[in-house]
Amino acid sequence: MPQKRIAVLASGRGSNFQAIIDAIARNEIPATCCGLITDNPDAYAIERADKGGISVYIVNYAEYSSKEAYEKALSSVMKELSADLFILAGYMRILGGGIVKDFHGRLMNIHPALLPGFPGLHAQRQAIGYGVKISGCTVHFVDEGMDSGPVIVQACVRVEEEDDEETLSARILEMEHRCLPEAIRLFCEDRLMIDGKRVRILPGSVVSPEL
Ligand code: GRF
Repeated sequence: MPQKRIAVLASGRGSNFQAIIDAIARNEIPATCCGLITDNPDAYAIERADKGGISVYIVNYAEYSSKEAYEKALSSVMKELSADLFILAGYMRILGGGIVKDFHGRLMNIHPALLPGFPGLHAQRQAIGYGVKISGCTVHFVDEGMDSGPVIVQACVRVEEEDDEETLSARILEMEHRCLPEAIRLFCEDRLMIDGKRVRILPGSVVSPEL
């Protein structure tokens, strides 16, 4: 199967980006990572890219006079990279409608809650505040709404009595590091089909016995 080209957008720490780099290195994802795009020149994700030999594209939000100008620059970097898939892994901005439309079906996001519950910022804090007993993470395709696109993979964790935002976030993050590479692998194996609000996961290719 020909390798897919994937690119990652991240704004900060980049632990999910690292999980992707590691999964590719273990040959678990049939893809090459062709770039890290960041809006933040101080993002730790940049160091991870440098270590992994991955090109970095900084589109520094602070240098643009408007959101439109920033998005225009971002969009041209994305088009130039011509990746099959762009993964929002801790990318802390909402993408404008133009980009979402241009890259429909090729934008994936990870969110630290079981969507459609607790979209938006501070999802783990929202979950603790609500008093839910189970939370988790969701990988989904991006649509025009906030954390509202078709769900690809979800996993749950227990919310313990003594949890605070930090301990719950750490437990969810472990799951994120498993779910995101899994969703990317399925995409790269051409096994995801968007069907309205649903994502159908097609069976893996069966190796013929005579091979
Ligand atoms: C993760 O919790 C992700 O779900 C959310 O932002 C956080 C990014 O963490 N969107 P990292 O930068 O991948 O370590």
